[in-house]
Amino acid sequence: MNNFRFNVCTDIRFGKDQVEALPEIMSSLGKKVLMVYGGGSIRKNGLYDKVKMLLADFEVFELAGVEPNPKITSVREGVKLCKAHQIDVVLAVGGGSTIDAAKVIAGGAHYEGDPWDLVVDSSEIGKVLPIVTVLTLAATGSEMNKNAVISNMEMNEKLGTSSRDFIPYASICDPTYLFTLPSNQTAAGTADIMSHIFEQYFQPQKGAFISDRFAESLLKACIKYCPIALEKPDDYEARANLMWASTQALNSLLTCGKGGGWTCHPIEHELSAFYDITHGVGLAIVTPRWMRYILNEDTVDKFCEYGRNVWGITETNPYKCANMAIDATENFFKACGIPMTLGEVGIDDSKFKVMAEKAVRLGGLQDAYVPLNEKDVETILRACL
Ligand code: NZQ
Ligand code: ZN
Repeated sequence: MNNFRFNVCTDIRFGKDQVEALPEIMSSLGKKVLMVYGGGSIRKNGLYDKVKMLLADFEVFELAGVEPNPKITSVREGVKLCKAHQIDVVLAVGGGSTIDAAKVIAGGAHYEGDPWDLVVDSSEIGKVLPIVTVLTLAATGSEMNKNAVISNMEMNEKLGTSSRDFIPYASICDPTYLFTLPSNQTAAGTADIMSHIFEQYFQPQKGAFISDRFAESLLKACIKYCPIALEKPDDYEARANLMWASTQALNSLLTCGKGGGWTCHPIEHELSAFYDITHGVGLAIVTPRWMRYILNEDTVDKFCEYGRNVWGITETNPYKCANMAIDATENFFKACGIPMTLGEVGIDDSKFKVMAEKAVRLGGLQDAYVPLNEKDVETILRACL
């Protein structure tokens, strides 16, 4: 079990109507607010009006239209607004894309240069405005972590950056806001949560028993509740458990005593950088192919542990057990309605070479659970066709 520091201090307000606490939370942070949101879902479901009403005593400026896979162009607009109006606090109302954009905007407010610099090199991040979030999609964990992922489509780059100061000051997590999610976003969000768990669970360290059991229980929550939320979008218990799973899956808890490079995320980031696909869909496609590719003498026991503890597989032959677990993972994503081949999301093999090269160079795949080179990544991508 590795040494670790666990210090994540977001004030989580979880449950129905917690948004009522927004004025109290914001009042300690300042009067001038930049409210950041996406393409309109919060206007349709009434959350926009609710937040504006609650912030009637604040001076609220707005950045609307943050895209899925948020673009640096939106971040630049937000930074301009912060500088023009001496904003005190950035409020993100939306999913991971909105929150991630808000984080880099908050970092850019006091930065002299182009905010893309903060994405390319996190050591450039200096003073960051406080960030508050109202979460509307269970997936990324951005509501309680230090990461932001931003795309630059001119350069076909989608890069992650991070800072302790990007950890939100407070996050409002009301499961009823998930009721309006379309089924494809519910399913993709769940695949993202599960992938965050896999990236931390499948690591070589032994003895982090607590982190591994936490991981398995979060996976079981996803497997139990995603189908229920798909069947009945306003099932509060299902939405609440998925929402809490998303937060816990990527707030550093699961990596306590563990660590090491990720695999499917760096590969998926190349798919979205070139084709702007939904993050969770790309992950669902890559994950089972990656699992099959790295199954060997060194990894078989861990896959079997996953199969036994998460899927209840009782097969005693280790390879059979591991393969059954991988099949169960793939079948689960399929049953949730996620397209499971690259062809279905409009991707052919024409950019595999450059994507594989970038995934290895930018994504640190040499430090992954099973280190991968460009040839390995290309082979995995080909298996996704
Ligand atoms: O833009 P609006 O109109 O709000 O619509 C959004 C968007 O079209 C819609 N939506 C969100 N909440 C809704 C809703 N529609 C109806 N009802 C609601 N309650 O859903 C669509 C997708 O939203 P988005 O924010 O893009 O999804 P998600 O939360 O999955 O975020 C994905 C982004 O986060 C990055 C991904 O790479 C991707 O760019 N990630 C961020 C991480 C982090 N910060 O730690 C880690 C992740 O691994 C991931 O890389
Ligand atoms: Zn992710």
